[in-house]
Amino acid sequence: MEERKFYITTPIYYVNDRPHIGHAYTTIACDIMARFMRIDGAQVKFLTGTDEHGQKVEQSAAKNNTTPQEWADTNSQHFHDLLAALNITNDDFIRTTEERHKQGAQAFWKAIEKNGYIYKDSYSGWYSVRDEAYYQEAELIDGKAPTGADVEWVEEPSYFFKLSAFQDALLEFYEENPAFIAPEGRKNEVLSFVKGGLKDLSVSRTTFKWGIPVPGDEEHVMYVWLDALTNYITALGYPFKTDFWPASIHIVGKDILRFHAVYWPAFLMAAGVELPKRIFAHGWWTNEGQKISKSLGNVIDPFALAEEFGIDQVRYFLMREIPFGNDGDFSREKLIGRVNSELANNIGNLAQRVLSMINKNCGGVLKKNGFHEIDKKLLSFAFVHADKIRNEIVYHQHFSRALELIGQIASRANEYVDATEPWKLKKEDPERMETVLYTLAECLRRIGLLLQPFTPQAADKLLNQLAVAQEQRLFHMIGAGNALKPGTELPAPEGIFPRFEEE
Ligand code: MSP
Repeated sequence: MEERKFYITTPIYYVNDRPHIGHAYTTIACDIMARFMRIDGAQVKFLTGTDEHGQKVEQSAAKNNTTPQEWADTNSQHFHDLLAALNITNDDFIRTTEERHKQGAQAFWKAIEKNGYIYKDSYSGWYSVRDEAYYQEAELIDGKAPTGADVEWVEEPSYFFKLSAFQDALLEFYEENPAFIAPEGRKNEVLSFVKGGLKDLSVSRTTFKWGIPVPGDEEHVMYVWLDALTNYITALGYPFKTDFWPASIHIVGKDILRFHAVYWPAFLMAAGVELPKRIFAHGWWTNEGQKISKSLGNVIDPFALAEEFGIDQVRYFLMREIPFGNDGDFSREKLIGRVNSELANNIGNLAQRVLSMINKNCGGVLKKNGFHEIDKKLLSFAFVHADKIRNEIVYHQHFSRALELIGQIASRANEYVDATEPWKLKKEDPERMETVLYTLAECLRRIGLLLQPFTPQAADKLLNQLAVAQEQRLFHMIGAGNALKPGTELPAPEGIFPRFEEE
């Protein structure tokens, strides 16, 4: 994934409903990745958007006494608004009802058809509107989909995609590209699914209208997943332009891995388009131990969360609490615990102490009079950790580990404060105090650089307080070559991570 062009995508979200924490989670993870790659010097394209066709959206529009288009407009706007509420830096937002998408999706269909992978027949079998997925009789559990969703019997004329023709090619591809599916455990699920045999896939519907017409046969609309998956290339301008393709990474939830790691690559092979580099499937959140569902009334509103706790705080918690790829549980108590102990007490307090001592004891000016061994040790600890952090993010998307490592740098710096006792040095050895505070400020600069993707507002504040110029904030500038310059005057300090006090 080390190419200088970096293309990252979120799933496009169904507009049958409002955004919830699951959507926020995927989007924040992508934003962190995108922001990191930007400071790592890559040319980044970050895409998100909304999935607006299909029976589910049609039905929810009807339930709300409106047209599918109006319903899509209203709900797509909510997803769009969420981006600002979470400080997301996407470069584009695609809606599948846009002309650019419809035309691209039809061109993609035609490419597959021209290569001989689409044929007409009829489908009879089970379909789940909630999952927008077909199920085999044998997959059903007590008459429901394995996801617990209701299924209905469907019988209609349908076009089919020759998925069965791609079983060997897919297995070979997974074999040759071991980093294609992550995490490892999920990869095995996909492998056994494909090894179990692939049946041809119904890719058109005739019993409702809300979709992209099949080129040349307007009685049919395209299956919503074929329509939706092509967004990743239609947003780039397919079939005319595909700059940035292949995607460096598609980040998705575990529930939709099969669509991305099996169907999507097969469609692309059929159309003669290159395959994405990597699919990462993250886990699911529960709320205080319970499955999140509208019927239980425990859906977590990401707007309200960011409003109450702060954008950076929510971003931090979601990325820190569970290793990316695992399931995890949300609770207010855990969120407040991490905000207070890890952000406020560890990092925030360090910044506050150091910057106010520089302000009070050094007239706000950085001074340095020769390093002791302990100073060099602290700075090299931060330097070596920075590389580990980069690896965790770039190669493993292990965001929680990256944050844990950033926290370790701050803990180390706090221990250094306790060991050097700069407040005592004020009288005993003011020159030594200056160097100690300089060392800490330089360590904070490194922490600030590393925090940028995760908590962009606080990182910006911290780097401003250290008078680090905007163009001095790239990852490769973490080392001594770009260290803070003695003689630099720092602005008045202000807190970066306030404590959260429950009312
Ligand atoms: N429209 C499809 C994706 C098409 S991509 C070509 C879709 N949309 S969705 O709105 O239902 O879900 C989007 C994402 O939200 C999925 O990645 C899903 O895993 C994620 N989540 C939904 N609930 C979640 C949790 N409770 N926890 C974490 N993520 C969850 O699927």
